[in-house]
Amino acid sequence: MTMIRGEHLYKVFGPQARKAVDLFEQGWTRDEVKEQTGALGAVIDADIDVAEGELFVVMGLSGSGKSTLVRMINRLHDPTSGTVEIDGVNVTELDGKELRDLRAGKVSMVFQRFALFPHMTILDNAAWGLETQQVDKDERYEKARKALSTVGLDGWEANYASELSGGMQQRVGLARALATEADILLMDEPFSALDPLIKRDMQSLLIELQSELRKSIIFITHDLNEAMRLGDRIAVMKDGRIEQTGEPDEILSNPATEYVAEFVRDVDRSRVLTAANAVQDPLVTLSPDTQPRAAMVQMRDHEAPELFVTESDRTLVGAVRDDDVAEAAKRGDRTIRDVLHHDYGQTGEDTPLGHTLLDAARYTLPLAVVDEQGRLVGVIPRVTLLSALANRDVLAEDGDPDANGSGPPDAAELAAQAANDGQPVASDGQAHSRGETTTGETPAEEGAHHG
Ligand SMILES: Nc1ncnc2c1ncn2[C@@H]1O[C@H](COP(=O)(O)OP(=O)(O)O)[C@@H](O)[C@H]1O
Ligand SMILES: [Mg+2]
Repeated sequence: MTMIRGEHLYKVFGPQARKAVDLFEQGWTRDEVKEQTGALGAVIDADIDVAEGELFVVMGLSGSGKSTLVRMINRLHDPTSGTVEIDGVNVTELDGKELRDLRAGKVSMVFQRFALFPHMTILDNAAWGLETQQVDKDERYEKARKALSTVGLDGWEANYASELSGGMQQRVGLARALATEADILLMDEPFSALDPLIKRDMQSLLIELQSELRKSIIFITHDLNEAMRLGDRIAVMKDGRIEQTGEPDEILSNPATEYVAEFVRDVDRSRVLTAANAVQDPLVTLSPDTQPRAAMVQMRDHEAPELFVTESDRTLVGAVRDDDVAEAAKRGDRTIRDVLHHDYGQTGEDTPLGHTLLDAARYTLPLAVVDEQGRLVGVIPRVTLLSALANRDVLAEDGDPDANGSGPPDAAELAAQAANDGQPVASDGQAHSRGETTTGETPAEEGAHHG
């Protein structure tokens, strides 16, 4: 369901604003219009739609019109032309009282520097957005306490804002927005002033909160990596116009304009390379009911020291190592159920690999990709993980200060280590034998089912 829809939005600052819109509609450029009328097209013919529960990012360089666009959503700016609908209500037609209600209730705005009141306690600061609502004091404090707890500030309620670090102050600002229980958050570069590590923490916090709260969020940033990390979709702005709207990997792999292509050239691809992009069929999987000796045969035949174990409906239940299986055989176990282990990385299909890369590369098994029901969809070979890690480091050294700050500092070290951990990459079980035509075609040993 569409929560926010902006259509043909224009904001022109300066004289002859209406005339400027006409000229834009006739195809004039921003510079031509400026010269002719003296007016500045801050936002030109922008269309956006944000679905309920979506985190929608507006990205662009400073001055590209991001703030102006978003301020038209809650009418901090009146559009020169065009319409905004929020949850089916035409915002462009609301009167003063209705607008105040909208801003106090449904739509909450979070700015780059949250205007905390230094002489007020954290609790009062967090409750501040609620003053304008018809909520009594006890309820305000209860909501504020809950929101502070959500952002990890339990125990800080009685401190003064001035006693908190920049990162913690941003948490209070976030808590303030959450306390209003607004369905919609408009966040204007909320993390831009933070140093890179704290910025990353706040991004993680937002991702975590959003996975539960499912708000409709418009998040403004000039930081491409931030956009790629947070956005369900991203709108790229340039000189007042939206150049492209799309999912992160769409923007990355299919830039609509030269400008977007240029902008995304240096992005750390590992973060948007999702599991689904890189997944391969598992070579072979075992059933937990496989007899140890049959499992040993499978592993020997596939030269795989480790294999994933799945139920017949492909639910991933673990993995086995050859020496554990040999032990089980010696002991006379009937099945391999008692020697399952869980030393492997696991990820969902749509998870950007960047999140799991470092963790997954520590294991000898490939990364398991599972669907929402926990069924094994496929695997990502360790070779892929390691090369993504290596690339990530090359990018981080490329001089992008942001990539340096937010990327794991020891990625290359870890990749090198993992590649040299006494086992050539090609021997890590399923990753190596893609070339073999064993998948599915080999007559199944007792209890084994092929992928
Ligand atoms: N109130 C205003 N009056 C005149 N010009 C403005 C006003 N607000 C923004 N602008 C201009 O509009 C353009 C877009 O600004 P803005 O939306 O703040 O960009 P961004 O948020 O992407 O940095 C800039 O050229 C800016 O100088
Ligand atoms: Mg701005």
